[in-house]
Amino acid sequence: MTIRKIKDDIYSIGAVDWDRRLFDELIPLPDGTSYNAYLIKGNEATALIDTVEEKFSDKLVNNLKELKIDNLDYVISNHSEPDHSGALPAVLAEYPEAKVLASQKAESMLNDLLEISKDKIKVVEGGETLSLGSKTLEFIDTPWVHWPETISTYLQEEQILFSCDFLGSHLATSDLYVENKDEVYEAAKRYYAEIMMPFRKIIKNNLKKLDKYEFDLIAPSHGPIYDEPEFILEAYKEWTSDKVKPEVVVPYVSMHGSTDEMVDYFVDKLMEKGIKVKPFNMTKTDLGDLAISLVDAAAVIIASPTVLTGPHPNMAYVAYLANALKPKTKYASVIGSYGWAGNMVDDLVNMLPNLDVELFDPVLAKGKPEVEDFAELDRMIAEIEEKFSKLV
Ligand code: FEO
Repeated sequence: MTIRKIKDDIYSIGAVDWDRRLFDELIPLPDGTSYNAYLIKGNEATALIDTVEEKFSDKLVNNLKELKIDNLDYVISNHSEPDHSGALPAVLAEYPEAKVLASQKAESMLNDLLEISKDKIKVVEGGETLSLGSKTLEFIDTPWVHWPETISTYLQEEQILFSCDFLGSHLATSDLYVENKDEVYEAAKRYYAEIMMPFRKIIKNNLKKLDKYEFDLIAPSHGPIYDEPEFILEAYKEWTSDKVKPEVVVPYVSMHGSTDEMVDYFVDKLMEKGIKVKPFNMTKTDLGDLAISLVDAAAVIIASPTVLTGPHPNMAYVAYLANALKPKTKYASVIGSYGWAGNMVDDLVNMLPNLDVELFDPVLAKGKPEVEDFAELDRMIAEIEEKFSKLV
């Protein structure tokens, strides 16, 4: 693990996990990730902000030794999830004098997850400050970026925000600062979509809390540091806004070609109308790509064949996921096919109670789609066109 100096007495000492391809055994990480930890030395005290995954513990401790840290006064635990707290026991074993600073909710989480004694933890409140002598850390409540306990830490003198997951990106890179904005934008949007989107309104509120601060740098605990903080702040403002884009997302599966034929027709006709459409074959799609598309899209049309009496299991998964991610999508419907009977539409729609959407009438073909089924798809496209013309 490399030690990289950010400013005098401020270092990035975390780890890049180049090979990790799955997070929580659920979330694809096509570009790996990093677990950033930051060391802040004041003239009276020293603080470590966040740690790393447990498997990198030795390397983090070695970095502290290499920087000749004989006494570590504080470890700020912005977030209790093991990718940031996993090395905390190893750090505390090496520096038993260190006090862990964390939010009230994090106190029990660190105790539950890592068996950190509550005696070692000092609870801090939003707005509270910690003096390191020549440097002052201020804690900001930024909960639910996807766990309830998360805080951010602001270094007042240098105007650096250490935001942990918030504003971060799953991206393994040797760049300390953002160099390829397109690459980081995509990775940050993917990360927002996968874990933060369900808490969009709280995240929006967290962003408002940042308005009163000036930022020279934003240093998250995943991905590169933002030396142009407006880049990520503006992106988050857009993603968390109530505005949707006139785009149609079409996750689909077809078993014998009927649903495929309907999706092909639907997608082609939308394109002819100049409406942006993104079909995703759910036997092949990376779930992160689908999640990214749900951040902004005004409409989601789920396309499924009927398996036994219900939707194809992959499409039930899509509905479950969409419901869990709570995108700001305004319109939804189901298209697809059946052989003899079934409740595929109701099954899917009933899986979407969290979505505040207007539903278009579904289009269901018995077996191969016929002329009247394509006419029904035209009807849905006309409704989409009409609704999209009124989007502001
Ligand atoms: Fe990067 Fe929620 O942990």
